[in-house]
Amino acid sequence: MLVSGRELLAQAARTGTAVGAFNTYNLEITRAIVAAAEAVGAPILLAVGAGALRYGGHGPLSALVLAAAREARVPVAVHLDHSPDLETVAQCAAAGYTSLMIDGSTLPFVDNVALTRSAVEAAPGIPVEGELGGVAGDEDRSGPQNTQIPLTDPDEARRFVAETGVASLAVAIGNAHGVYAGEPRLDFARLEALAAAVPVPLVLHGASGIPDAALQRAIALGVRKVNVNTETRQALFGALQDTLAAGVPGFDVTRLFAPALAAMQQTVEAKLRLFATPG
Ligand code: G3H
Ligand code: ZN
Repeated sequence: MLVSGRELLAQAARTGTAVGAFNTYNLEITRAIVAAAEAVGAPILLAVGAGALRYGGHGPLSALVLAAAREARVPVAVHLDHSPDLETVAQCAAAGYTSLMIDGSTLPFVDNVALTRSAVEAAPGIPVEGELGGVAGDEDRSGPQNTQIPLTDPDEARRFVAETGVASLAVAIGNAHGVYAGEPRLDFARLEALAAAVPVPLVLHGASGIPDAALQRAIALGVRKVNVNTETRQALFGALQDTLAAGVPGFDVTRLFAPALAAMQQTVEAKLRLFATPG
């Protein structure tokens, strides 16, 4: 069933767990994520980014993801991920998304505050996630990342949340999108200070490639939403390559994608079991 993202993060806070947000681009990824959530019995956010909306078309992709959420046997929020602009926020709010993210993290602090506050005002009743600090890397294409970018400052974070009215805050503590160059090193002391400084749930982006123990520690310290994309795509590509190498008789589309669906489901299930364990 389609639910508000606010509800899912509040439930995670009550149980000391985190809810998983998984990026989707198409029917196959959406179905695999929902199947995983149903198998584990865990709520999820289906995350649709600006790149996915360009690829799938706002109308068709949003309709597909919202329908999948409504039909799911577990609570599902449909989330706009990393919107760079207010137009997409307004479009997704009107379409029925139940969670929105505006990403002004590359802007100077005052401009990020202004953009984020405008997004909150543009979507009354829908929880808006903001981002402060820099999460390196591209959301849609994985590659080695430079993590030498500004981490979130707890004092700035307190002001940012107060001045924008965001429902949750994505933080930079050494996390990055895509494939990490070497072992990711999260700044847990900073995370602890951030959790103490802000009254809203914290969000960790770039979870692919972060070891389970580090993710669990982040959840124990107050992360309530964890974003995963690259590992799902890696599962998809790996299975598709194997299937194509083995050959698919009769150009059967269902047989082409079946192993990829299973691989993605397995990847998402493992993350959901981890996130559901109180840190
Ligand atoms: O917003 C999406 C994520 O932060 C996913 O990051 O591709 O490193 O898992 P990832
Ligand atoms: Zn992200």
